[in-house]
Amino acid sequence: MLNISNLTCEYQPFLLGTDVTKPRFSWMSESDKRNTKQVSYQIMVALDDQFNTIVWDSGEVNNDQSIHIQYKGEPLQSFTRYFYKVRISDNIGRYSEWSAINWFETAFLEGDEWKANWITPKKQEVEEEVFALRNTFFLKQNIQSARVYVTSLGIYQLYMNGQEIGDALLTPGWTSYHQRLQYQTYDVTNNLEIGNNALGILLSEGWYKGMGFDKPYKYGENLSALLELHVIYQDGKKEIFTTNEEWKSGKSAFVSASIYNGETYDARLENNWSKAEFNDVDWEPVICSLEPDAEIVAQQNEPVRVTETIRPIEYIVTPKGEKVLDMGQNMVGRMKMRVTAPKGTKIILNHAEVLDKDGNFYTENLRTAKQEVIYITKGDGEETYAPTFTFQGFRYVKVEGYPTEDLPLDQFEGEVIHSDMERTGEFFTDNELINRLHRNVVWGQRGNFVDVPTDCPQRNERLGWTGDAQVFIGTALYNYQGASFFKKWLSDLRVDQKPDGQVPFVVPDIIPGDQVASGWNDAATIIPWVIYQVYGDKQILADQYESMKAWVEKVRSLATNETVWEAKIQFGDWLALDGDPHSPVGATPIPLIATAYHAYSTQILAKAAAVLGFEKDADEYFALYEKIVADFQTEFTTAKGNVIGGTQTSYIIPLAFNLLKGNAAQKAAHELHRMIVTNDYHLTTGFLGTPHLCSVLSKYGYHETALRLLLQEEYPSWLFEVKNGATTIWERWNSMNPDGTFNDSGMTSFNHYAYGAVAEWMHRTIAGISFDETTPGYKKFTIAPEISSLGMSKVRASYKTLYGKVGSEWKLNKDMATLKVTVPVNTEAKIILPPQATNVTLDGEVKEGTTFTLGSGDYLFTFQLKGASQKIFTNESVLGELIYYPKAKEVVESYLTNFMHGEMPPQVAFQMMKGMTFRECKVTPETGITSSQVDEILEQINKVVNPTANEELDYVK
Ligand code: BGC
Repeated sequence: MLNISNLTCEYQPFLLGTDVTKPRFSWMSESDKRNTKQVSYQIMVALDDQFNTIVWDSGEVNNDQSIHIQYKGEPLQSFTRYFYKVRISDNIGRYSEWSAINWFETAFLEGDEWKANWITPKKQEVEEEVFALRNTFFLKQNIQSARVYVTSLGIYQLYMNGQEIGDALLTPGWTSYHQRLQYQTYDVTNNLEIGNNALGILLSEGWYKGMGFDKPYKYGENLSALLELHVIYQDGKKEIFTTNEEWKSGKSAFVSASIYNGETYDARLENNWSKAEFNDVDWEPVICSLEPDAEIVAQQNEPVRVTETIRPIEYIVTPKGEKVLDMGQNMVGRMKMRVTAPKGTKIILNHAEVLDKDGNFYTENLRTAKQEVIYITKGDGEETYAPTFTFQGFRYVKVEGYPTEDLPLDQFEGEVIHSDMERTGEFFTDNELINRLHRNVVWGQRGNFVDVPTDCPQRNERLGWTGDAQVFIGTALYNYQGASFFKKWLSDLRVDQKPDGQVPFVVPDIIPGDQVASGWNDAATIIPWVIYQVYGDKQILADQYESMKAWVEKVRSLATNETVWEAKIQFGDWLALDGDPHSPVGATPIPLIATAYHAYSTQILAKAAAVLGFEKDADEYFALYEKIVADFQTEFTTAKGNVIGGTQTSYIIPLAFNLLKGNAAQKAAHELHRMIVTNDYHLTTGFLGTPHLCSVLSKYGYHETALRLLLQEEYPSWLFEVKNGATTIWERWNSMNPDGTFNDSGMTSFNHYAYGAVAEWMHRTIAGISFDETTPGYKKFTIAPEISSLGMSKVRASYKTLYGKVGSEWKLNKDMATLKVTVPVNTEAKIILPPQATNVTLDGEVKEGTTFTLGSGDYLFTFQLKGASQKIFTNESVLGELIYYPKAKEVVESYLTNFMHGEMPPQVAFQMMKGMTFRECKVTPETGITSSQVDEILEQINKVVNPTANEELDYVK
């Protein structure tokens, strides 16, 4: 059996309304035999699903490429549906059947093909007003097909003959409106009839103008729309209806709407405004003079949709008497409500993320965003309503005016909305807290991937902060198929970049003035590079290359000697806990961060240049990179190999970006470990340090320390949030303080994804699934799980690559481990078992070694991990590691009677020594213990810690 599945064109199985002139095809294949590889493929593209009119037949191409194969047929025509199919042969000489037939359909392939006029409602004076636009048209005969192409300044909802069209929300989405505007395509073949028909558009401010972050958005004054309806009649003739001066504008039941403030809907005002028979004599003619400069492009990313509905779990009356629904989950979307009440009943819904310490409804952290939805009933039986032009970030809903004394849970549901990307990764363990944490990360991504990757979904902000997106990209792409989502966002980043290379802090850019901040603007280089690694998509590098280069050149021009960027004010290790408590910027020196990121971005640029075949650039930027690394070391490390700055992050970043080499790196990693242990396994890191913290520790041999941070339940930690009821990731470690009060800095979101970046390490290190930089897109990849008994004994993860599903599942029982792996067809995996694994079997067969290269298939390894559940203290162990072993700690304390000549109680002595290694204790006279006593201590504590160890423990030497 050899089958094709998941056939796609530009990441979509059925791509409606594209403007890509040479789209690319990808597919997965399934085989009942192991080690299956594709040997050849044949793609056919035709104008009909019978493949009578073929526009491209690739012929049999002897090649194992199965992703991103570009169309090479006759030039594609606009407004045309193309059908495509694929078959392949494999290395065992089999041919697959032809795949199922999918299609893509072009829209405007040339920008100047638009015939429609922009239409603008006349008087736009009232804030948050929603406009209705309508026109009728006459169809002479039955039709074969009909498409509507539409975009707007402001957000729109399309109607036809009284019906809402499509399930996409908040269209046309948020782009850099002065430069790029997306249009959507709708198949309306089944919405039309012979004779009179009507088209209707509702227009609301959206992100275009009105309430925004800090200041109102002001892309322009006038909301406008542009629409074409293309109809093909039964006889093959085509007719196009467009927005023009015959359209009229008027009012609807939508009284007002704003993304941040909410929506008011008066059902008493409902009428049949989007039906043909509606009498619009009172409506105003529209204005047709507007001509925006923006390029009008087809929608690149998945639309925002309702992807799930959840029911409230509880009805609460707060101490203040507020009637509140608890959704059980901090979610993003809208409430759908059913109600039966007399005409004119006003129901007000307010949305909040949390209840305060006393259990009252809390909206302070929304700042000026109202998140208020008002519905006024028409009073004829049961009415159902959910707002259209707004979304809320909330767990709790305060309801006023509902006609019953208690709120009936079954009359309310939460509709979860986000960009409807495909879920690609899963991660489960036998530790429920870790599972909850992972779910929180996924919920954080869902809520904040609403057409752009936003920092938060609730307060008056909701912006595409580049730094947040950059640190989270690795995690984001494990969780969801994010290629198209980020492609669209990076297109905006590119056009919003200033001529001097500055990348905006937020994309789409709405912040005036100069914007340079390392770690934020580096999104320009890091995100395309990660996308290339994960999907093997060179096009993204080609599209972004000039932008990447411009950013690196910008920093190069700002840096002393082109290398050391002595930046003064930047966001730094944003929200780290080690800085001035009144400032959001952590204590890690900004020049250190800025220079490290400069090195990292330059290295990425050099690699991208090499991939794209720009050899001269590659040479130049590799050389620059080497120079930055050398100057980084001179400037920010001491002769003895310490990194200056003294914060956790000042060690993490250079380690993460490989700026320290050999012994210096190992020493720095030990210092980082020591700092964390000395801080009783608490982190102090912010937005830039945290995402790399655990991975750096694991990489340098301190996986146990990383796990202890993950498992830490005390403040500050990931599980502190989970233990305190978090269902998403908080903006700050102390969004809620340990005493249950909230951070009152004015910047306290309970749904920020940045710290959720830890999930990348969970997938890549705990489960061990990772791409291979030399063969991107998972054509070759690694499964190298770090297997430890700490906190979990079972882990099951998978990741759906463009080739198919990669699986890694391990279990540890005492010192016996199993690892199940899944390798997709046409790929190769390197399986790396822990180096101490012995008695290895693969599918029951005894094997030598711990590293295996496998072709496609499912495999089961068993092996022994001696000492897997033991903790062995050595001379290099830091004393503070004993906090998890109180009995062993007592042993140490019993030796500390002579500390500083006996002046200190042993417990205080231990506290003072807890950052020292046992080896350092041997040579520090003040400790009052001798070298041989340290050996004795080690021997004793290892026995205490591992009482059942049946072998001689070889730890001391
Ligand atoms: C946002 C952050 C962002 C930061 C940068 C905040 O207001 O919520 O996520 O990265 O500003 O300064």
